[in-house]
Amino acid sequence: MTSGLGRLKVRVAAKHDEAVDICSFELVCVDGGSLPAFSAGSHIDVAVPGGPTRQYSLCNAPNESHRYQIAVLRDPQSRGGSAGMHDRLRVGDELTISHPKNHFQLAHEARHHLLLAGGIGVTPILCMAERLATIGASFTMHYCTRSRARTAFAERIGHARYSERVQFHFDDGTQSQKLDLAALLAQPDSGTHLYVCGPKGFMDVVLGAARKAGWPDARLHYEFFAVDGRETTGDERFEVEVASSGQVVVVGKDESVVAALAKAGIRIETSCEQGVCGTCLTRVLTGEPEHFDAYLTPDERAANDQFLPCCSRSKSARLVLDL
Ligand code: FES
Repeated sequence: MTSGLGRLKVRVAAKHDEAVDICSFELVCVDGGSLPAFSAGSHIDVAVPGGPTRQYSLCNAPNESHRYQIAVLRDPQSRGGSAGMHDRLRVGDELTISHPKNHFQLAHEARHHLLLAGGIGVTPILCMAERLATIGASFTMHYCTRSRARTAFAERIGHARYSERVQFHFDDGTQSQKLDLAALLAQPDSGTHLYVCGPKGFMDVVLGAARKAGWPDARLHYEFFAVDGRETTGDERFEVEVASSGQVVVVGKDESVVAALAKAGIRIETSCEQGVCGTCLTRVLTGEPEHFDAYLTPDERAANDQFLPCCSRSKSARLVLDL
């Protein structure tokens, strides 16, 4: 079952249309055995056949060991990831995936969990709801989508034992069912933790409203799917110094720190290469990074002692990295 580099070989056991432009896939071990355990909020890297590697959150209950379930939204601007999953992957096909990783964990010390999902961001949130219901934890979930037809897993949630804790909010629905974010997030209780996943615009609105209402970052948990493209014409070259060897590597204005280091034979593990997953997180000993990720909190960014070298750059002429 395990191939090189901790990769897993799985087989597509089922593929379902869950909503307009959203397909779910059930992945099982090729030899019929158990899959590695995972916790709520985990994702896997999937080597899309004939395409790139993409990260997808697991959305089945974490106490299941016979399958992983993922759901994929077709991106009209797909560069082969979602289109490959929708158009090329069939039941019975084999796939290479990574072991589950979790950068979006439940805070088990919380007295109450407030789960907010936007669109396809429901996948890790659903997994969290399953887990919280299993352990009898206190939670509520709000699920915002453009329309009922674009709402994946609506039927599953409707039949779940926790269905009464979930509220749906449709953009094309009546005013009375729309999410009143300011009211929901007002007067944050010190025992409540907030979890949000969805498109960047949705997350920016939720996190902005939460911070404005006084939620501390320690009680805000989030996972971005992708970072908006940014203007790169102003990028300049800079140097990175490897602290352990003193080696200095020049990062050209058109390349990432990860790519420049790789050319010099220094490999940093990456996954999303978009500043989302945190896999490449690296300590900065000297210098001021210029952060372009969606992973660090504002406080972590301000500390300037770590950065994501797959996407972030440098404001100073040289960064000394703890490598
Ligand atoms: Fe995902 Fe850098 S590889 S944040």
